[in-house]
Amino acid sequence: MSDPLRPPAVPLARDAVRRLPAYVPGARVGADGLAHKLSSNENPFEPLASVREAVAAAAARIHRYPDMFATELVETLAAAHGVDPSGVVAGCGSVAVLGHVLQAFCDAGDEVVCAWRSFEAYPILVRLQGAVPVEVPLDGAGRHDLPAMAAAVTERTRVLLVCSPNNPTGPAVGHEELVALLAAVPPHVLVVLDEAYREFVTDENAADGDRLLAAHPRLLLLRTFSKAYGLAGLRVGYAVAHPDVATPVRTASIPFGVNELAQVGALASLKARGELRERVASVVAERRRVATGLAAQGWQVPDAQGNFVWLATGARTVELAARAAAAGVLVRPFAGEGIRVSIGSPAANDALLALTAGWPLR
Ligand SMILES: Cc1ncc(COP(=O)(O)O)c(C=O)c1O
Repeated sequence: MSDPLRPPAVPLARDAVRRLPAYVPGARVGADGLAHKLSSNENPFEPLASVREAVAAAAARIHRYPDMFATELVETLAAAHGVDPSGVVAGCGSVAVLGHVLQAFCDAGDEVVCAWRSFEAYPILVRLQGAVPVEVPLDGAGRHDLPAMAAAVTERTRVLLVCSPNNPTGPAVGHEELVALLAAVPPHVLVVLDEAYREFVTDENAADGDRLLAAHPRLLLLRTFSKAYGLAGLRVGYAVAHPDVATPVRTASIPFGVNELAQVGALASLKARGELRERVASVVAERRRVATGLAAQGWQVPDAQGNFVWLATGARTVELAARAAAAGVLVRPFAGEGIRVSIGSPAANDALLALTAGWPLR
């Protein structure tokens, strides 16, 4: 502890930084490599051979800077989303892109409305910017309460964040309720729809950001290669928005933020979309099997639309997560609330179901 009466030995970091809670990453597998890692919502499949080969070949060029604007990747993504390339901004993971969005749109003291509990990086990124997170509780089914979020908007609100499907609880927001939200929020608010898990969604009524972009210039979509595309280790994500929204985000971005291997890996993955879709389908089938198995055990699991399920373990969360780890299943606990478990290989999912069968239901 530093002595409050003595001047600090080093310059003090900003208050906002010193008060930040640390981001808690999912537990990692130990040196024995034996545990099932279901703690970070990763894709259980190893990279496709075609992606691996493209990335390996690109290693020969890493003495050069990458293309600063990831031009080929951005153009390919723009074509896939049916927008002009000026509306796409790639970054070092969608979490970095969100950071740049907040840098571009929020001054100190501005407000950012989000649901809670939602992706834990949100309040951290908002506070880092000197802005204030306004957290609106999820409803009892782990869903966003969009009318309450719209009602939380003030003159200071600059961004309203919607996470669909919601990490960590699982449900997606409905398309029509999102349309209603977009109609309700005033023009000074940018609505960010974080669709990190979009590819896993099977609910036909779920919000589809692509269908809304043209009519809603104040909507920005966040997408990532970390989940369905299985490239979490390469760090590449992007925003899709009206060019007038995308341009300041690009201005705020870290120069050369998407490295050469990430650009090449993402492009190779887009070429292999058919194969990756099959993998997503098998994750979704496993999600259904896990959710059905949990329901049969008596768990009330919120509608799981991502590659994870939520167990409301309440006060026993930390103890149960430790028991899971001891049994070789790494999960993501949120103390006092619940446990998020990623969908893994069939063997990992079996190990989870064997564990939960013996856990006390809340
Ligand atoms: C809702 C949500 N958004 C964004 C991210 C970050 O993804 P990326 O790896 O692209 O930074 C995650 C990662 O867990 C997430 O759950």
